[in-house]
Amino acid sequence: MITVPVPLGERAYRVAVGRGARAELAAMLPASARRVAVITQEGIPLVDELRYGERAVHRFTIGHGEQHKTLATIEILCRGFATVGLTRSDAVVAVGGGMVTDVAGYAAASWHRGVNVVHIPTSLLGMIDAAIGGKTGVNLPEGKNLVGAFWQPVGVICDLDALVTLPAREMRCGRGEMAKYHFLTGDDLLALDDEARIARCVAIKAEVVGADEREEGRRAILNYGHTLAHALEIGTQHGLAHGEAVAIGLIYAALLAEVLGRIDAARVQYHREVVEEAYGLSTALPDGLDPEHLLALMARDKKARDGLTFVLDGSSGVEVVAGVPAEAAREALDRMG
Ligand SMILES: NC(=O)c1ccc[n+]([C@@H]2O[C@H](COP(=O)([O-])OP(=O)(O)OC[C@H]3O[C@@H](n4cnc5c(N)ncnc54)[C@H](O)[C@@H]3O)[C@@H](O)[C@H]2O)c1
Repeated sequence: MITVPVPLGERAYRVAVGRGARAELAAMLPASARRVAVITQEGIPLVDELRYGERAVHRFTIGHGEQHKTLATIEILCRGFATVGLTRSDAVVAVGGGMVTDVAGYAAASWHRGVNVVHIPTSLLGMIDAAIGGKTGVNLPEGKNLVGAFWQPVGVICDLDALVTLPAREMRCGRGEMAKYHFLTGDDLLALDDEARIARCVAIKAEVVGADEREEGRRAILNYGHTLAHALEIGTQHGLAHGEAVAIGLIYAALLAEVLGRIDAARVQYHREVVEEAYGLSTALPDGLDPEHLLALMARDKKARDGLTFVLDGSSGVEVVAGVPAEAAREALDRMG
């Protein structure tokens, strides 16, 4: 098992990564907690194998899908917490994908103005992204993740045994997000085994979050590949899942950096080696999308400042680049073929 520290001063915590890491749960829960509210979904593995020490355990099961990532679900959960008498010294444990950890994290942030939460992400995306860094929240009809809070967990457990039952498409989506980490630092993630690679992704995210918890600057590099990805998700009415769109977005970001003279052809090829060859992800633009529509959607991206803004690779690493000319963005789309 590998332990990754998340450096956040007095709110620092650790992430346990490895097969069987679920055995860490009782020790991760605060000593003060006498009751534990477990939030999960039907079909999530590990839940029945968790051990909580001498604590009363109350399980809450929420629905599947973004349509349940709502304030209504938060109300149901908090009313459940009231029924079982959960106090601020108790704890919430989230067991599931990113949707569960986002919802449970926000319920924990809100209940009695904040109760301890431990995340046990069971999807690859949850392990390397959603459960790390303290962003929690729910959707509104007006948009995704519009209501939420920064609320750091007291610990995270990434037990690789959970991934055995993860559906293939969810695994692919996780790999799309994982591919991103290959370009954020100089190290060779492909040389690592699964456990070490997941731990390294966690460590990269932890380091970025530690330096910029509230996304005022550096944290934006975690959106590498995401500008086109968001446009593709909207343009395909979510026919492409997020991680699938990120895989395409990473190649696009590399081509755009090449158009702008920031990286050379060999570095673009390295992107293809990771995304297409190592992870087997499709990077073709879906048929029938109008490039001008994609450009318009990218110009509306919520991270956009001064026209077209991208997170781009370059000689000093991946960074936010504002004021990218529309012609360059168009040329890079052309090069996607
Ligand atoms: N807070 C953040 O920083 C952050 C970052 C990225 C994504 N997110 C959020 O994460 C969510 C996406 O997370 P996700 O991709 O994990 O999707 P998800 O949580 O919706 O899970 C996808 C499906 O897989 C199932 N599942 C999860 N683990 C399983 C397992 N081990 N075996 C069998 N089935 C399993 C779930 O029940 C669900 O049906 C989105 O809501 C997104 O907004 C948050």
